[in-house]
Amino acid sequence: MIRLLLKKKEDDILVLAIDVGSHKTCAVLSKLSNSGFEVLNFSSCPSKGLKKGNILDKDAVFSCIKTVIDGMNLDGNTEVILSVPSVFTTSLDKRYCIATKKKKISNQQLSRLFDTAYSDISNKDVSLIHLIPHVFYVDGVSVDNPVGLEGDILEMQSMMILSRHYRAVDDMLSLFKKAGLDVTYLIMCQIASYLSTVSDEEKNCRVLLVDIGGGKTEIGIFDKGVLKHFSCLPLGGNHFTNDLSIGLALPFNECERVKKMFSEVYTMPEDTTEIEVICFDGSVKTVSTDDIFSIINPRAEEMLLLIKSELKRYGFDGQLHCAIITGGVANMKGFSLLAQDIFEIPVRIGTVSVFDYEMEVSSKKQGAFNDLKKPDFACVMGAVMYAIELFKAQKNKTRSARLQWLKRIFS
Ligand SMILES: Nc1ncnc2c1ncn2[C@@H]1O[C@H](COP(=O)(O)OP(=O)(O)OP(=O)(O)O)[C@@H](O)[C@H]1O
Ligand SMILES: [Mg+2]
Repeated sequence: MIRLLLKKKEDDILVLAIDVGSHKTCAVLSKLSNSGFEVLNFSSCPSKGLKKGNILDKDAVFSCIKTVIDGMNLDGNTEVILSVPSVFTTSLDKRYCIATKKKKISNQQLSRLFDTAYSDISNKDVSLIHLIPHVFYVDGVSVDNPVGLEGDILEMQSMMILSRHYRAVDDMLSLFKKAGLDVTYLIMCQIASYLSTVSDEEKNCRVLLVDIGGGKTEIGIFDKGVLKHFSCLPLGGNHFTNDLSIGLALPFNECERVKKMFSEVYTMPEDTTEIEVICFDGSVKTVSTDDIFSIINPRAEEMLLLIKSELKRYGFDGQLHCAIITGGVANMKGFSLLAQDIFEIPVRIGTVSVFDYEMEVSSKKQGAFNDLKKPDFACVMGAVMYAIELFKAQKNKTRSARLQWLKRIFS
């Protein structure tokens, strides 16, 4: 872990983004100042006490949170943003309406429409994680941006993402409180991973986002930047490791190592290599790269076919321009080629692109933070990006700036 002494200036805002995944828990501390944004610190440790996003052992999860925040020099003013697995959420499609009395629609009126939506949820026993405008209508006619148009009635068709297993979110938040952190914002994993990996071109398309982690696969369909559908499958990198462990009769951790070193999933390696591995009883044997391929290739195919059947079930098969695959499993060699054959659309691996234009990482720290560009960190880096946009808009303190931000981030 890198230790830094933060010199906090008057106007600086410290943002701590945390992703408690099934495989690893990670935290990224960044600073927002008048001169820009900077990643200050980053820490990651193997997760314990979680399965497929659900907490099984609170003490173990608490110790992971403590491990990643220790040495970060956080103070009471640090804003904390936490990624939420979509299994903790549910969505609600709702239409809201206000009278605009034949006047030109202003930002204030748009703001009133959003307030109507917020107040509809605020008295219910759930918390609102995201309010995503899908379509605006002015006197029944759909428009992209109603501001400046004249009409009697302004409506908004929206998707609300709400906490579902309230206890699960609550349990997680109480573990953060115990660690001395108040979580300010939540972001759903799909939205976070999309924000950190999507390109400007893809923002104009209908994109499939798949984040395959250790224990789950988060799926999101984004149309011109707007989340239209999401789901989660209980599949992840652990399935490959388990298959290897059973198929090769080797300990899980040894298979994790073997998988990361020889993880070709598309074509059988041309030259078969024999690899030395350590068995359960400590003895050494060899396994061939052909054997590894013949175990992990069918599992990868099965995983991708299940994702495709999910697309068919919701009517998106044949309706997508391209796909981004991210999360740790996206590091497997040939994964995008295999996905391209199965999905029949262009597929690319989603590495973290925010560094290219948003983040400043001083050259001294560049090497240390290189890992953050990997697909494994798409979710936590998306949370950083979301927080940056949020606080930029809040710094402006105007409601219209907040709305502009909402529009920009979801359109
Ligand atoms: N080079 C690699 N080759 C094969 N698998 C890899 C590689 N790097 C990481 N993985 C796998 O990716 C998975 C972890 O991905 P990630 O870090 O995105 O998970 P997570 O976010 O903690 O979990 P989840 O999203 O399921 O809660 C593990 O199964 C790990 O073995
Ligand atoms: Mg993850």
